[in-house]
Formats: sequence, structure tokens, C-alpha cells
Amino acid sequence: MSNSVGKAFYLTTPIYYVNDAPHIGHAYTTVAGDVLTRWHRQRGEEVWFLTGTDEHGQKVMRTADLNKVSPQDWVDRLVESAWKPNWKALNIANDDFIRTTEPRHTERVQKFLQGLKDSGHIYAGKYEGPYCVDCEEFKLPGDLIEANGEKLCPIHSKPIELVNENNWFFKLSAFVEPLLKHYKDNPDACQPESARNEVLSFLEGGVSDLSISRSTFDWGIPVPWDTDQVVYVWFDALLNYATAVGLGDDPNSQGGRKFAETWPADVHLVGKDILRFHAVIWPAMLMAAGLSVPKKVFAHGWLLVGGEKMSKSKLTGIAPSDITDHFGVDAFRYYFLRAIPFGTDGSFSWEDMSARYTSELANDFGNLASRLTAMVEKYCAGVIPAVAKDRALQSALEATVSKADQAMCALDFQGGINAIMEFCKKVNGYVTEKEPWKLAKDSANQGQLEEVLYNTAESLRALAVLLNPVMPATCEILWESLGANKTLGSISQQKISDVVLWGQLPAGSIVIKSAVLFPRLDDSK
Ligand code: MSP
Repeated sequence: MSNSVGKAFYLTTPIYYVNDAPHIGHAYTTVAGDVLTRWHRQRGEEVWFLTGTDEHGQKVMRTADLNKVSPQDWVDRLVESAWKPNWKALNIANDDFIRTTEPRHTERVQKFLQGLKDSGHIYAGKYEGPYCVDCEEFKLPGDLIEANGEKLCPIHSKPIELVNENNWFFKLSAFVEPLLKHYKDNPDACQPESARNEVLSFLEGGVSDLSISRSTFDWGIPVPWDTDQVVYVWFDALLNYATAVGLGDDPNSQGGRKFAETWPADVHLVGKDILRFHAVIWPAMLMAAGLSVPKKVFAHGWLLVGGEKMSKSKLTGIAPSDITDHFGVDAFRYYFLRAIPFGTDGSFSWEDMSARYTSELANDFGNLASRLTAMVEKYCAGVIPAVAKDRALQSALEATVSKADQAMCALDFQGGINAIMEFCKKVNGYVTEKEPWKLAKDSANQGQLEEVLYNTAESLRALAVLLNPVMPATCEILWESLGANKTLGSISQQKISDVVLWGQLPAGSIVIKSAVLFPRLDDSK
């Protein structure tokens, strides 16, 4: 489904709790969002990509207490020293970064809440029940697991706490029928299929109203009409997707225009742990306010360590830099999306990552680039020869682009990357079969040799553009070494749909012998 004129492709990641520094689970979601938005930009679409931090609530407050600083100091420090630099290091090209402690967020949250109160969607009540501070979630008794006589959160394996408070409630139960209808009418609105089924059966089981305020601590947004209470952290956090783009602003203001250009979000990317918040509570909040609901919530699986969700609280968190220091940023961006079908859980293993790095990145892709540039330098004085064609390569490329585009737009990153890497293998096969180094032995074959080198260079031109959303730094190096930046413009301007146009690298472009794209791993590190 395409967007109407003037509507950007709007993608969000969850906003992450700043109780700790990012680990590779957080990076998994954000990299996926970055790859998808870069792909859509290269399709020539307007894109808006939002990420940010979730800074209120007990979990963050308690961590700040433990560290003997105020919650505000804690979040300011961690956002600036850990979160923002982490995304920069991973080459994440987000358009905006929202923090829930910013006035642009808190003010719009209060206005939205007041609106729901005025329209009769909020009432006073009493909440009594289990709560997991790590999930920041009111749990249902059936959600819990029992060990040694204690009730534990199944995600964090930690004891739950009992909450007993007078709170404000949102009439969530009133939206069960409209939500069921929405998901039945729009099969794409919640994906993958397993997530959609989970949401449908959860809704069919009936849903209670939701406590949306807390009264026993003060680290949060004050409820506008009852400032002894703060807004429940999830109600506050979910609204970030809309406050960041001007929720509730005058349609003629800058915020109002931004909202019209972006809302509804095209994709909310989330881990499966927070699916219900996004596929039940969030659209119900929007329905209550008379706003359109997101087009798609996509729940991906977990990165597992020892068969369990990797997390800092279980001391299994791995920092992205632990991996990028060894393999480089682009291999990190590539590996998780290539190795794990998006939507299923996957275990991280150094062995698997090393094996793929060597066979797919260093051998299949990196060597192809260095062989080609070295041969152009050696046999053609570093100049791209006359435009040539190869039917088989051309038609393989056409099939690749269509398959990759379809897969990437459907968030099947593995399928998309596989299709592109299959083409890379095909080009390697072409070079092996044509044996240009043998052709070079007899000057009578110079014409044939140049054809082979041109076809290989053109294939690499295509590979650079197709892999650019996944590995932007590497593809930029390749692009420059093909001399393409001087003749075809910057790599980010290249359109996916134009990749198939054969013969774009002009004869005479100067090729620079490529730096090694994926250096041999130093196993001593
Ligand atoms: N603050 C909430 C989200 C609010 S969104 C309105 C939150 N934050 S979180 O810091 O716990 O991050 C949750 C997200 O991080 C998950 O939904 C998922 O996208 C990502 N992951 C955290 N651990 C993960 C794994 N072990 N594996 C894969 N993704 C993981 O929940």
C-alpha cells in the first residue's frame, strides 16, 4: 500500500529505558529500523525515522536512586554519554530523537490526557494487583510463573510487587470490539502472523480497563487535573510516537503540518515483549481520541543467550561495541538481519558470526570488489573499459532487485539480503568462469577481457547500491573506488528502481584500487 501524496513513510523504534546503557537487543531493533528507512529513502520516498528514550517510571527512578543521583541527572548523563553516541557509532540515520522528559512531549501528553478525561474515557478507581517494575506492567495473575513459592515475571524471572493504589483508569475495555474489527479487516496491521494471532486471542479473552496513573512516587508527568499522581509510564511513553510529530497542535502550525505529513505511523517496530502495549493499548488510546491507528505493528523476536532473552538485568547483555570492535560496524548491521528471520528468536554466537563474516562478507563480497579493482588497475590502467552487456547477469539482476525490494518492504530482511548475496555469488561465478586473468595473458583477448571487467564492475555498482541500506560505510568506499561518486553522484541518491538500468558506469571512469572492505579477523582480540 502506498502513502498519499505528501505523506512520509514514518517508522518508529521503541523508546528505550535509560536505566542502563544499550545492548545488542536494543541495537537489533534500531538497526532494523535504520535499514528499512534507508531502503525506503532509496526507493525515493519521503521518510521520517524516530527513535528516543523512555525516561520516567519506577525502573529508571530506582536506578538513579541506587546511583545516588536525581532521576533527571541520571537520564541526562546516560542519554548523552551512552545512547546517542551508540546510535551514532552504529551509523543510525534517525531524523529525530525524542526524550520523554522534554517539554514538547510532556506538554502534549497532558493535553491529550485532558482531552480523554473531558470526553469521558477516564474515571477514578482503585488498582490492586501484581506489577513488574522491570516490565513496568500491571500483570494478570495468569501471566506469572511460580518458583520456590514466589510469583515471578516470566520475562525477567524476578518477583513481582503488589500494588494497591487509587488511580485514574482508562476505559480500555470499550475498545475490544473496534480493535478486533480493525485486526480482522486489516491483516497487515499486526505482523508477523504469530503476533497477530497472539493479539487476536488476547482481545478475544476480554480486556480490563487500565490504570493510567501512579500515586506512590513522583518521577513522571503530573496528571493535569490531579497533580498528586503521575501518568503511568507506558501511557506516557506510547504517546511519544505522536508527540514527536506534533500531536494536538494547531493544523496550521509547524507541529500540525508535521503531524499531517507523518500520521498515522507506517510501522511501529517492536520486540515481541511489548506487543500488547503497541497492538492493544496504543491503538485504543488513539481510537478514544478520534485519531487514526498505526498502519502496522511489527513484533520481532528476541536475541537469546543461553536460550533466554538477552538482557542487562539477567547479566547477559552484550554491548554493541563488544562486537563492532572485532567485526566492524557494517558486519554487525549485516549479521543479525541476515542470520535471523525477522519475527523469530535467534541465538547469538561468535562462531556463526565469524563464519558468515569470512564466507559472505570477506570472501563473497569483499574479495569480488578487491579482485575487480585490482584487475582494472592492472589490465586497463585503472580506467573503466567500454560499456558491455551480459544477458545472464542482467536478468539475474532484474530478478534480484524485484525480489529484494518485495522482501525488504515486507520486513523480510533475511530474504532481501539473501537475494542480494545470491546475486553476489552469481557474479563471483561469472568471474571464475570467464577467468579474466587467463584472458589477460594474450593481448588478442583484450576486448573480451574488458567486457568481463565491465560486466563485473557494473554488477558491483548494483551491489553497492542494494547493500547500501545495510552497510552504508562499506558501500560508500566501494562506490568511491569504482569512481562512481564522480560520475553518478552520491550513493544515497541512487534509486533502487534504477539499479537494473545496465551500463551506468561510464567508460573512462577512474577506478581506485579498493581498500580491503572486510579485513581478515584478528582472532587474538
Ligand atoms: N521503554 C519501553 C518501550 C516503550 S515504547 C513506547 C521498553 N524499553 S526497553 O529498553 O526495555 O527496550 C525494549 C525493546 O528493546 C524491545 O521491544 C526490543 O525492541 C529491544 N530488545 C531488548 N532486549 C532484546 C532482546 N534480547 N532481543 C531483541 N530485542 C530486544 O520496553
